Amino acid sequence: MRVQGKVAVVTGAYRGIGRACAERLAAEGSRVIAVDIAAGDPGFHNPDIDYHRMDVGSESDWQALADRLAAEARQIDILVNAAGIAPTKAGAHDVTLTDWEQIIRVNQTGVLLGMRMATSMMLGRAPLAIVNISSIWGQVGGSGQIAYHASKGAVINMTRNAAVTYAKQGVRVNALLPGLIDTDMVRVQPPEMNAATLALTPMGRIGLPEEIAAGVLFLASDDASFVTGATLAVDGGFTAQ
Ligand SMILES: NC(=O)c1ccc[n+]([C@@H]2O[C@H](COP(=O)([O-])OP(=O)(O)OC[C@H]3O[C@@H](n4cnc5c(N)ncnc54)[C@H](O)[C@@H]3O)[C@@H](O)[C@H]2O)c1
Repeated sequence: MRVQGKVAVVTGAYRGIGRACAERLAAEGSRVIAVDIAAGDPGFHNPDIDYHRMDVGSESDWQALADRLAAEARQIDILVNAAGIAPTKAGAHDVTLTDWEQIIRVNQTGVLLGMRMATSMMLGRAPLAIVNISSIWGQVGGSGQIAYHASKGAVINMTRNAAVTYAKQGVRVNALLPGLIDTDMVRVQPPEMNAATLALTPMGRIGLPEEIAAGVLFLASDDASFVTGATLAVDGGFTAQ
């Protein structure tokens, strides 16, 4: 039990990477508030996972979550910002401002609002570990998807900023950079796009959400007590090249 007795908020937890993170943290002893915009019962089997529906891009939704936690006298020990979208493949020449703003709102502003809620609640009270899910595309260049790549690059430097800002106050902030992972986000992409990423992945295979959750667990746990501002690539060697 590597996060026994902790309270974790995990965004994007209805499915995919966020769900795997929520399930792993709960299996390792955390009480998890799984957050997502999706409607319907997510069907978690672990009774230590509560589902809370909200939009990570909405300031008032984060305030409602903070109010709920305060009413239940709960603090946050771990925040995993995993919610993300990649609805367009457009590049600089054809991205619409609507798509740009939607992607930045969820992938970048959503991370900011989560970090703001957790740090404002926990600073001066108790240690806090934040893990932001960026992407290999936040670190290296790729073709197209300019808004997605911009948002993921921003998440890396927001992580470093928060890590340095709060390092002496018991808050650790790290980013995890997944490579190509087998989730719905990837399944709906054009197969040739995924094949191109796979061809550049030294291990020659797609990763699993559980492999990302294992990295998140490390960064969220006390095993990473001297790790802050780091980027952990879990990408089959993609960014080693
Ligand atoms: N799958 C990959 O290959 C890959 C690679 C690198 C990074 N990532 C990142 O990992 C994270 C998880 O992606 P995934 O592959 O599991 O995708 P996914 O599409 O399977 O899951 C994303 C989840 O986020 C939720 N979500 C979307 N918008 C939201 C909002 N406004 N508020 C709250 N929840 C919202 C969705 O409902 C969904 O449950 C994302 O940040 C993604 O960018 C994924």
